[in-house]
Amino acid sequence: MDPTNGRQARKGGLVPFLSATRSGIVEVLTPLLLATALALGAQAAPPTTIPEMWGAWCARCHADDGSGQVKEPTITVVPMDLRDCRWTTAEPDADWQRAIAKGGPGVGRSSEMPGFEDSLTPSQIAGFVTHMRGFCTDTRWPSGNSNFPRPIITEKAFPENEFVLLPAVSHETEPSSAPATDVSLVATYERRLGRRAMYEVSIPFYNWDFQSSRDSEIGDVAVAFKYAAFSSATTPGIVSFGLETTLPTGQLYKEFGKGTVVIEPFVAAGTMLGSWYVQASSKVELPVDTLVDRAYLYNLYLGRDSSAAPNSWTLGVELNGENRKLWITPQIRKGLTGTGALAASLGVSIPVKYRGEKVVSWVGYLVWEFLEPFRSKR
Ligand code: HEC
Repeated sequence: MDPTNGRQARKGGLVPFLSATRSGIVEVLTPLLLATALALGAQAAPPTTIPEMWGAWCARCHADDGSGQVKEPTITVVPMDLRDCRWTTAEPDADWQRAIAKGGPGVGRSSEMPGFEDSLTPSQIAGFVTHMRGFCTDTRWPSGNSNFPRPIITEKAFPENEFVLLPAVSHETEPSSAPATDVSLVATYERRLGRRAMYEVSIPFYNWDFQSSRDSEIGDVAVAFKYAAFSSATTPGIVSFGLETTLPTGQLYKEFGKGTVVIEPFVAAGTMLGSWYVQASSKVELPVDTLVDRAYLYNLYLGRDSSAAPNSWTLGVELNGENRKLWITPQIRKGLTGTGALAASLGVSIPVKYRGEKVVSWVGYLVWEFLEPFRSKR
């Protein structure tokens, strides 16, 4: 059997038709070709660009415009409005990439967000994140890629909506007196203002060992304002400036307070070196009462995550300096919920200068990002 037979027969069949004028052929064939191309495109050709893939695979839940508002929802959880910069910019790219690869449960979210690990390449996943970033058109918001895990003592540069409890237990062993254990708890409320600013209120509680008795008091209440002056969207990097004011609410005679208003300008910065977080902060304490000594504080943090999950362990170490004293604070942090909205950290501050005279302290925090969902929606 000659396999070309059929084709030749058809070709032959077309011959009388082809003898028509050139323009005649074009008139007849063009609509035919177009119709075929359209039919093929609609049925078989897979989407090739990321926006096309978004339309084909994501838009039925997230909508073409990223709003999450679709005419006929097939799911019960409404995805976040990706046009709302307030919510989207605080999310690091890594979390979104993980959500797309592993699905909602990979980042503590709803399982109605499917995982695409098996059907997409890492570069396509990164392409989707870039596409999704485009839905927020205001570029003045600081990028969540600079939203690093909070160190225990170093000031974080990224503005947050958080409630933080910072307990500390210090063991004082001075040669002249019996060992003493002092306990403190600082409660801090942080709230973002506009795109780049944040204010913060801190109230310290002390329970101190005075050998013959223990005494509980409130210390100096502090109010701070912070502004992210520089933040890069491409390479992680952020620099913030702030001003803290400490009010003399603590008892001066037992050293629970400084007895004067203290003005404390500070700077905080963060970046990444490979997969290491590098964060630093520095501040000057300027007492309004000039008889009280000034203090210079500086902190440096280095740390890394053990995995990309929001509830991963983070190992870190800080160097904390105050005037000419220096401490080293190794620490470990863990996200306590799938979304990482609740996290805890534990560390120990060991004096490296003035050994023997200074105090070893157990330090840590419990942080709650109160606008993040606590647990996944079903
Ligand atoms: C079947 C519906 C559905 C489809 C299809 C879908 N998503 Fe989702 N997606 C969701 C839901 C629902 C959420 C929110 C989950 C939550 O908040 O608990 C979500 C959340 C996300 C998030 C996390 C955002 C955040 O809240 O931090 C990303 C990123 C994302 N989707 C990307 C995609 C991409 C990219 C595609 C297409 C390749 C896609 N989604 C397809 C339903 C879907």
